[in-house]
Order: sequence, then structure tokens, then C-alpha cells
Amino acid sequence: MEMDNENNQYIYIVQSSSAEEKPFCKIGKTNDLDRRLKEYNNITGKPTNIVYRYLFACEVSDMSSVENAIKEEFSYIREVKNKEIYFFNPELLDKYINFIKSHKLFVKEIFTKIDDKKQEIKIIKKTTPSLEERGLTRKDLLQNAKKTKNDEFYTRYEDVEKEMTMYAQEIWEDSVVFCNCDDAVDTDERKTSAFALYFIKNFKEIGLKKLICTHYSGGLDLFNQGAKGYIFTYIFTKTGFKEEKEYPKGYTGSFDEPLSLKILNEEADIICTNPPFSKMAEYWKIVVESGKKFIILSAMTNPINTAFIHYFMENKVWTGYNRVDNFLNPKKEPVVNEAFWYTNIPINDRPRYKQLKIMPLKDIPEKHKKYDDSKILVVDNCYIPNDYKKPFAISVFPIFNGILEKGYKIIQKKQYEPYINGKRKFGRVLVQKI
Ligand SMILES: C[S@@+](CC[C@H](N)C(=O)[O-])C[C@H]1O[C@@H](n2cnc3c(N)ncnc32)[C@H](O)[C@@H]1O
Repeated sequence: MEMDNENNQYIYIVQSSSAEEKPFCKIGKTNDLDRRLKEYNNITGKPTNIVYRYLFACEVSDMSSVENAIKEEFSYIREVKNKEIYFFNPELLDKYINFIKSHKLFVKEIFTKIDDKKQEIKIIKKTTPSLEERGLTRKDLLQNAKKTKNDEFYTRYEDVEKEMTMYAQEIWEDSVVFCNCDDAVDTDERKTSAFALYFIKNFKEIGLKKLICTHYSGGLDLFNQGAKGYIFTYIFTKTGFKEEKEYPKGYTGSFDEPLSLKILNEEADIICTNPPFSKMAEYWKIVVESGKKFIILSAMTNPINTAFIHYFMENKVWTGYNRVDNFLNPKKEPVVNEAFWYTNIPINDRPRYKQLKIMPLKDIPEKHKKYDDSKILVVDNCYIPNDYKKPFAISVFPIFNGILEKGYKIIQKKQYEPYINGKRKFGRVLVQKI
């Protein structure tokens, strides 16, 4: 194992079992992670009632700066000022880790393992998967960190209605709609999701069989000790509409919890929601791979993001009808973000086709066609050559407008980064005429 030396600097997150009743964790810094691990090991098992758990450790290039940045970022959830004790729950842990990993001084994650026999924590690997392996750029990480802060973007009722009404009536008939990142309709408007509201309001008209919404307890209910995840169901019976809210023991409401997955796999017909931006990759993996129908809102850049391009390439996901730029924050104030609807439900005669400008290469205006430093053609403004046989690079817009349904296919899973005269241009995706 690599030895620590004083030049090495680490940030770690640890939690003791005594903190379980009060949900706290410590975020500390050290020059000597091995020693720190052992110190905690020594404490572990000495008073047998206290067990330490390593939640995260990483190397950084200046631990004091990172520690200060953490203090500043999370001052509102710092519990014990001089001891770097912070509130803890799984959602917050993700936020701490995302923040640390996207800090410019983050070097690499360090994995630890508990040796069950000796009850000792060991450093097992001092590496972290490369950004490329994770399908991310450093910019993505920074954006993700920003988005983590911004998970609480609520969809406006009119945007839900505008998209849902575009789909054929038959898809809803006798269907179970599952909103797996949504509050139910509540007397408090701030706790009401526009998705739930839309499906309840239109339940009979569109012929739904059942609506299920799961509420995630990790977000806004942080300081409400009583808050738990719940499952809300809404059905129509002989005696009228019936709604139920269940709080299964220990259920957080996370979309990847066994109970949520059971609903997804065994009950749901159509998944509709706006999932958290910071967990988009995990969410898409579960929902897209479930084989269920879905209509979900996600970042506008997904069709050119390496972590998602393969879904479009394999024709497992395509764009829905509308772009959404306006959302509401938890105080119901308007905020802006760039999102698009994504689905696997057939789109009939996509209205956006008419925004595509498909024509011979020679007719595309010069300013909208360029060859990059690798001699790859880059076209803009939804101009698409119909007589060009080689791969060429496009932005997300032709994809929104249905180019993949017009005889063109994506030919590379990785984002394409054009350089023109040595200057990096916006990320694209490489397509080719079939
Ligand atoms: C972008 S907001 C959208 C909320 C709602 N669907 C809407 O459109 O108004 C994402 C929501 O997912 C919740 N969330 C975060 N992590 C989650 C998880 N692991 N499982 C389920 N929901 C989660 C957040 O608390 C937040 O309310």
C-alpha cells in the first residue's frame, strides 16, 4: 500500500453509530489517512457501543481550501461549528460528495473496505474511475454540482399538460401511471406536484386505472424528523375516487429503493416525472432499462452527453414534443433551466420535423457548415446535408427535431468535440446518413 506523507492531503466523511439517533456526520481533513483510519479503528469496538463508518475519502491538493469551501457551502447545515459536524442523510451525503468531487482541488477518490474479521478499515484502492469511464467531463462535474443544488426545480402545471396532451389517448386508457419522484396533491401547495395534479384532474377523462406517486423524504423534509417517504395511490372505485397515503417503515421514497422498483416493474404502465437532475444517469438506467413506457423531463444536453448518447443510438429513447425552460423553485418562484421531454412512446408525425433543413451540401449557407481541424463536417442551425456520405457533427437541436427518424443515425457513443483552428467548440454528436 502506498504510504502517506505530509504532502498528501485528504478529506474524509465519517459517521459514528452514536450519531444514528441524531443524523450527523463529520467531514474532516488529514495528512495521514492511514493513521486516521486506524484511530477510528481503535475507537471502533473499544466502547463497543460506538462504531465508525467511513462514508467517503479522497485525496485533494489543498485540504484546508477544500475544507473551507465545504464550510462555506454547507454552513446552513453545520451542526457543531468547531468540530465540522454536519447534518446527515443519504441525499445530503450525495451533495457533500458531489461538491467535493467537483471541487477543482479534488484529486482522486480513495476506497476503503472493512475487514470483517479484524473489524479494521483498510484502504483498498487509491484510484477513482476516470471521468471518461464515467462519461463525464470536468465541466459536467461542475455542472452536476450546481444541478445538485438545483434539484428542486418543480414543473409547472401548464408544461405537464402541454406535453401529456400530445400523446394518443389510447396510451392512457386503463393504465397505471407512476410518478416516481413526486409528491402527491396536498393541501399545502408547496407539497403538490403538477404531475399528480394533472393526472388527478384528468383521471376519468383520459381513462386512467390508477395513479401512484412516491414522495422522496431526503429533500426538503430534511429537518422534519417525522418526514418519511410515502406512496400515494389514487383510484376510481364504484363508490367514487379513493386516495391513500402509505408510509412503509424505513421507506425513503427513493426511485431506486426495492419498494419503488417493485411498483415500477410489477404495477406501472407509464412513468411520468421530472427526476432529480443530479441523479439523471442512475434514473435513466433504471427507467429506460425497465422496458416500461415513460415520458420524463431531463437536461436538454442529454442527446450529446456521453453518458446518455447510447440510449438514442440504440433507439431506446427519443425526444418528446416540447422544450421546457421555465420551472418553479420550492417557494414557487419562477426559475429558468433547460430541459426537454424524453420518451419511448411513438411520436406521430412530429411537428418539429418542419424545423429541419435537409438539403444538398452545396445549398447549406457557408456560415452554417464548417470543417473542423480533423476534417469532420460540422453543421449548424438544423441544416442537414442529404448527399453527404461521411459522418458529420450536429448539435442537440436536429435531434429534438427528429433527425434520427429521417434516415440518419448516431455513429459514436462518445460526445464529439470539434476543434476549429485549435479552439474547442460546443460538444456535438456524430451522425451519418443510413
Ligand atoms: C427536479 S425535482 C421535480 C419534482 C417534481 N417531479 C416536479 O416536476 O415538480 C426532482 C424531485 O426528485 C426528488 N428526489 C431527489 N432524489 C430522489 C430520489 N433518489 N428518488 C426520488 N425522488 C428524488 C427531489 O426531492 C425533487 O423533489
